[in-house]
Amino acid sequence: MMRFSIIFLCIIVYVTVADTIRVQEKLSAYDILEQYDFPVGLLPKGATDYKLNPNNGKFTAYLNQTCSFYIHSYELRYKSIIKGVISKDKLAKLNGVSVKVELVWLKIVEVTRISDELEFSVLGIASADFGVDNFFESPQCGCGFHCNNLQKIGL
Ligand SMILES: *[C@@H]1O[C@H](CO)[C@@H](O)[C@H](O)[C@H]1NC(C)=O
Repeated sequence: MMRFSIIFLCIIVYVTVADTIRVQEKLSAYDILEQYDFPVGLLPKGATDYKLNPNNGKFTAYLNQTCSFYIHSYELRYKSIIKGVISKDKLAKLNGVSVKVELVWLKIVEVTRISDELEFSVLGIASADFGVDNFFESPQCGCGFHCNNLQKIGL
């Protein structure tokens, strides 16, 4: 009877562990953003993989290509490897995302969420705010957030 219980317990533990691993395998870089209260649209479409150290928040996302698109009148450029330190509502030490301002490419070093706004900081000095609702969907490389509109008008 005792032995039976132990075997049974082992099966339960095994099934639980297997389930947990399966759930973890399903997570994407976009899921990680959401876990830290960021919208998925912070990363363009095409993220293939990510690394996260939950202890210190070190986060690396891998895109299948470099990417650029416009958000409002700003041109953004993503490298295929994006690194940062993620915590709830704050993505610090960002590396791999630039914005074109007055013909010059500047690195975006930090993104902070303050209620419904995302604040993008450039070199820690200047910043621009956008509503979180701009980012509910991931932009597509090239046409960014306006791909459907472009298709509609036949571009
Ligand atoms: C990258 O992924 C996006 C979205 O899945 C896809 O539209 C695009 O064609 C891919 N690019 C390459 C170079 O595979």
